Amino acid sequence: MERREQLYEGKSKIIYSTDDPDLVIQYFKDDASAFNGVKKGTIVDKGGINNAVSSKMFQYLESLGAKTHFVRQLNDREMLVKRLDIIPVEVVVRNVAAGSICKRLGLEEGLSLPKPILEFFYKNDPLGDPMINECHIDVFNWATADEVVQLKERGLKINQLLFDFYKKRNIRLIDFKLEFGRHKGEVLLGDEISPDGCRLWNWDTNEKMDKDRFRFNLGSVEEKYQEVYHLVCKE
Ligand code: TMP
Repeated sequence: MERREQLYEGKSKIIYSTDDPDLVIQYFKDDASAFNGVKKGTIVDKGGINNAVSSKMFQYLESLGAKTHFVRQLNDREMLVKRLDIIPVEVVVRNVAAGSICKRLGLEEGLSLPKPILEFFYKNDPLGDPMINECHIDVFNWATADEVVQLKERGLKINQLLFDFYKKRNIRLIDFKLEFGRHKGEVLLGDEISPDGCRLWNWDTNEKMDKDRFRFNLGSVEEKYQEVYHLVCKE
């Protein structure tokens, strides 16, 4: 697979075209950012870890029938994926209250939710990814009604699958963000599934093992990313 020109550079990944117009390469950087780019830094080996963890998660989800953009991991930093027309809607699923929902609704961090909560955010960096609902998606044509049904059903199904996966590794899946896109008429899960876009807590101690360690200067950022990597990829 020949890597060609850079198509897009985001905060944590670079997308390159290939000699196949249907496929692109995602390159995972070590760069870390938080609070919509206000806090910037580097997490040593994050790119390699997120590529390996995401590859494992995509393979796991595919094996259980969830359709993703994953084709194969190419090397330490690169993943070959299907080219997507990205739906500009981020799907967040929460099992435990943490992060923005605590601020918005005055909830205590760690509150266990009796059922998962699914939320939509508009994927737009300059606006800071504001929260939206189905009316916004409909009126602004970000996705069709059928696609919205799929985003909800698939978000909740993927939550069950990921929750079970992490529970077996003594990790509680608190919440996570998904992105979807269109490829040849199908909606596929895109982006990455890594400690950057998930909250992961040690099941017994509630110790944070995700990007909140970087966001809130909790220390041991690399160690916790490495721990997730070993639990996900080496067991
Ligand atoms: P939040 O609590 O800040 O809304 O985030 C919920 C989860 O989704 C958390 O695991 C972080 C992830 N997330 C991203 O990775 N990128 C985003 O742009 C958003 C809105 C959430």
